[in-house]
Parts: sequence; structure tokens; C-alpha cells
Amino acid sequence: MNLDDQKKAAADAAIEYVVDDTIIGVGTGSTANHFIDSLAAIKHRIKGTVASSEASAARLKSHGIQVLDLNEVDEISVYVDGADESNAQLHLIKGGGGALTREKIVLSVAKKFVCVADSSKLVDVLGDFPLPVEVIPMARSCVARELVKLGGRPVLREGFITDNGNIILDVHNLRIMEALKLESELNQIVGVVTNGLFARQPADVLLLGTEQGVRTVKPA
Ligand code: 5RP
Repeated sequence: MNLDDQKKAAADAAIEYVVDDTIIGVGTGSTANHFIDSLAAIKHRIKGTVASSEASAARLKSHGIQVLDLNEVDEISVYVDGADESNAQLHLIKGGGGALTREKIVLSVAKKFVCVADSSKLVDVLGDFPLPVEVIPMARSCVARELVKLGGRPVLREGFITDNGNIILDVHNLRIMEALKLESELNQIVGVVTNGLFARQPADVLLLGTEQGVRTVKPA
């Protein structure tokens, strides 16, 4: 199985976690796209979805799946999304696709977070994947200086604007041993909208596509 087959297998397995007659939160990226395609087959069983990006909303609509505004929704039964890295605690780095802020917002309303990923995403220590930080454009330089003080090497994601009209600084050189602490620290920097660490609300379960099939990983 190549990595894309592993993503698809993990996304298919997430269908088991869909709760009938409820609203489903949908992430962003290639693995989330596989989930959207699988969800199409059972769209009659759900009330609708909330999307974490314009791209996912468009894909959901192309399948005839209803997409609701989060402001119309009180509760999401389950949020399904990919990740760039996960550690054994299921603390994640997300935002490779630049949708981290909306992903965190949709997740915050969900009762359960099912993360779907290929086998390359499970790591011992977070940080080989540069940590995405969404920043208000006028704060680019001052936020970058603060990130350097924390030991990172921020790099502007060239030619990219988020769905919220902001920029992304991808922070290299981090070896993240205390994800929860760093997630809070980064969010204290004035000008940061949010960062791609998902430790305060980690995944409840990681469905990991592997050569041997889909492994269900629970937090260590
Ligand atoms: C988008 C994300 C994605 O979940 C993450 O980048 C993983 O993407 P893929 O499923 O394409 O490997 O956080 O903002």
C-alpha cells in the first residue's frame, strides 16, 4: 500500500465513527478529501456537515452533502481530520494545508476527534514538520522575532493567504517535548491567530493506515 492508499483506508475506517442523524465536522487535506468521498455514500444518514475550509466545503457540496454554517450549529458529534504529525499522546501538528484556525474552531464544538493519517505521520517527537502559525499580516515581523526567541526559525509561506485573509509562518527547528505548554505560549504572542499544535484538544483516536491495514491508536 502506498501512502495515499493508507490515507484512503484510514478515511474509510472513520466512517464507522459517524453517528447517524448528527452533524459531522470535516477537516481539510488529502486524507480529509478521502473521508469526504466516503461520506458521500452515507450522506442520507447524517444531518449535515460543518467544513473547516472553503476547499472542503466545495468538495462536500460537489457530492450533494449539506454544509452548515457553524453559527447555526450547537453540537458536532464527531470531527474527522488528518494531521501532519502525531505523537503517542495524539498531540498533533496540523496546518500543512493552512486551515489550522478553522480546524481548531470546528473541533472545539465536537464531542470526539477522529484523526486519520498514513503511517508516516506517527512520530516520537513533534517538530520535524515545521509548525504552522497563522498570523495577522501586519504582525509578520514582530511575531517572527518572538518565534526566534523561542528557538524556532520562522519561514513565510510564500504566496499563501488563509481563508481568513492571514499569512502563515512555518516554524522550523522545533523539538516539541511539551506540546501543551508551547501551544499556549504561542497563542499568547500578540498578532498570532492560532498555531498548529493540537494538544489542548488532542485526537481521541488515531486511525493509522499501515502496510498491514488500519491500526487504531489510542492516546498513551
Ligand atoms: C490542513 C491539515 C491537514 O490535516 C494536514 O496538513 C494533513 O494533510 P494530508 O491529509 O494532506 O496529509 O492540517 O490544514
